Amino acid sequence: MADGSGPEGWTRSGVDAAALGPRRLRSLERMCDDHSFATLSALEITPELRCLEIGAGAGSVASWLAQRVPQGEVVATELDTAFLPDDIANLHPLRHDVLTDDFSPASFDLIHSRAVFQVFPDAASVLLRVLPWLKPGSWFVLEEIDGAPGVHSPLPQLSRANALILDFLERVVGGDRQHCRRVPMLLDQAGLVEVSASYRAHAVGAGSPAQDLIRLSLAQLEPGALRSGLGTEQEFGELDAWLDGNEAVDYSFVSISAWARKPRGQQ
Ligand SMILES: C[S@@+](CC[C@H](N)C(=O)[O-])C[C@H]1O[C@@H](n2cnc3c(N)ncnc32)[C@H](O)[C@@H]1O
Repeated sequence: MADGSGPEGWTRSGVDAAALGPRRLRSLERMCDDHSFATLSALEITPELRCLEIGAGAGSVASWLAQRVPQGEVVATELDTAFLPDDIANLHPLRHDVLTDDFSPASFDLIHSRAVFQVFPDAASVLLRVLPWLKPGSWFVLEEIDGAPGVHSPLPQLSRANALILDFLERVVGGDRQHCRRVPMLLDQAGLVEVSASYRAHAVGAGSPAQDLIRLSLAQLEPGALRSGLGTEQEFGELDAWLDGNEAVDYSFVSISAWARKPRGQQ
């Protein structure tokens, strides 16, 4: 854990990879990778590109990118690099805090980040500190996972589980629950051009990655939530039991994938 000041595993910037644990990171990857790979496949990724993956987690996107740039490289940053692969020649894990550490201007031909900016209280200013690292004319891809659609589920347990996750994000971590919805607008306001986005809803139901992700997320945030008066131990227990056995299908999270280009004249 990079900063012990918050509730278990939650740093000033959210939660670090060690606290999330490999199971939660893998369920997130299982839920989101297809969407992320479809987005990235549609961009011009040529074999010699130098890419940056911010907050790479367990590294599925960084590994995929490394295969796509055999003559280039991928720098995969993390507060905690424990779960990143260290056996891929052109994939370089780097302990690096996006809020405080730097790269030289115009270091990268592509920057991607998923489910990282959404926990920052001021994602717009983090975006502005990151953009100089990108070469003019290159793509920035920002992906997030929005729990808000699940709050409107007709399944009361799913609705409550998603509400707890969003309340925790807002009241304990200090994130902005509207951020995910605004991602394409954020890219536009940062001066990027050719802004586009796609969205994918993720179903819950037996064995689904989304259901696993909600269950593991609740388990991980429960101690901090209880201390902050969000929910009760009994409620968390009942939600866990429901998420263990639920077979009803509905959608929970929507992943947002937005991409835009840095104008050729912009530094
Ligand atoms: C929800 S996980 C997503 C992991 C990965 N991007 C994915 O989608 O599979 C968020 C990751 O961001 C990392 N992270 C949080 N704050 C960060 C910071 N300030 N700098 C770098 N990484 C950070 C955490 O350690 C965690 O692994």
